[in-house]
Amino acid sequence: MTYAEAYKKLEKYGQLHILKYYDELSEDEKKELLQQIESVDLSVIELCKDKSELAKKGKIEPLGAMQLDEIEANKEEFTAIGLDAIRKGKVAAVLLAGGMGTRLGSDDPKGMYNIGLTKDIYIFERIVRNLLDVVDEAGVWVHLFVMTSDKNHDKTVAFFEQMNYFGYNKEYVTFFMQDMAPAVDYDGHVYMEAKGKMSMSPNGNGGWFSSMDKCGVLDIVRKNRIEWLNVFAVDNVLQRMADPCFVGATIAKDCAVGAKVVKKNAPDEKVGVMCLEDGRPSIVEYYELTEELMNAKDEKGEPAYNFGVILNYLFRVADLEEIVKKSMPLHIVEKKISYIDENANLVKPEAPNGYKFETLVLDMIHLAKNCLPFEVVREKEFAPIKNKTGIDSVESARALLQKNGVTL
Ligand code: UTP
Repeated sequence: MTYAEAYKKLEKYGQLHILKYYDELSEDEKKELLQQIESVDLSVIELCKDKSELAKKGKIEPLGAMQLDEIEANKEEFTAIGLDAIRKGKVAAVLLAGGMGTRLGSDDPKGMYNIGLTKDIYIFERIVRNLLDVVDEAGVWVHLFVMTSDKNHDKTVAFFEQMNYFGYNKEYVTFFMQDMAPAVDYDGHVYMEAKGKMSMSPNGNGGWFSSMDKCGVLDIVRKNRIEWLNVFAVDNVLQRMADPCFVGATIAKDCAVGAKVVKKNAPDEKVGVMCLEDGRPSIVEYYELTEELMNAKDEKGEPAYNFGVILNYLFRVADLEEIVKKSMPLHIVEKKISYIDENANLVKPEAPNGYKFETLVLDMIHLAKNCLPFEVVREKEFAPIKNKTGIDSVESARALLQKNGVTL
């Protein structure tokens, strides 16, 4: 892209400040900036001007879950079905590790965070160990795909290498990078993180499957005839992925998607809840849950919207190929964004200072034909690390790990 073309593109979106320091840049920096301007999608920024059009919800109704008693009664059958699929190589896991973990506030990828007390225990290590349990049970390796972003890819790969993949077989681990989107201030102006570089951030966890496709990683899925992808978050250190019983239940119920859920611990707990939206499976985020929905009861007198998602979904690949053809809603998320001030000094803000644009994996559920909400015991499978202290923190996750017999 030439300077003139870049100027024209930026002028159209009111972003000419991006070229403010152009004349001061070296030839290489100029080239890089022009390349960045060429590849960036600035049309997303228009969305923060009229947020009313974003992610509008349809008619919300309750969606029951397969609960613990039903799972227990069918455990043997489900587990056998799941193990059979795993042994035939039909199941793989996808670790979503492209996020910035701004709430935790570490400069390293979140998975590198050391949660140990008397020894080193890294988040990635806990995840890999949990997957190794399934490998041991099934007697075969489960392919692990790891999504990173431009911001943390090199560090993540180097860490896995340095730690010898925590005992996992590296031939069954594949890294791929997700796409980035511009980060803007509250007026919709793209932040600059250097004189010749726009602030870009990972574009949310909803693009994982299309990024697998773009990076050529989907070829591995197709070549190996992998039929199920279990996508999960990096920050839940009790996460059980490729769980044979869950896989088996989803297959037995002939569902396109399975979603692990936990009973909410309070009506206003900050988790997205499973529901039907206009007759299709969906997730209503906690901030979208009205008082009326929060207090609604089912025929047994139980809360009607009682099952929260824990970012652990099993997708049938054949259905994913259809899902990604549909368009996903874009979310505008308030976050802390590093930027250069008027004196070109880098500022790392303490509080949110603008917006990032993200698509979310939970929106894929609504695009699927059907979904099996599958209840798990929260004390055994849900220990998210979002913050340093308090709710969903390093502290609370440590306590839950210890409760589950993990020596820290
Ligand atoms: P979060 O919503 O907690 O976001 O991600 P985050 O970026 O990690 O953390 P904060 O909000 O800045 O503190 C949930 C999961 O989705 C992944 C994260 O790595 C985590 O596993 N994720 C999130 C991505 O893979 N890519 C993204 O762009 C965003």
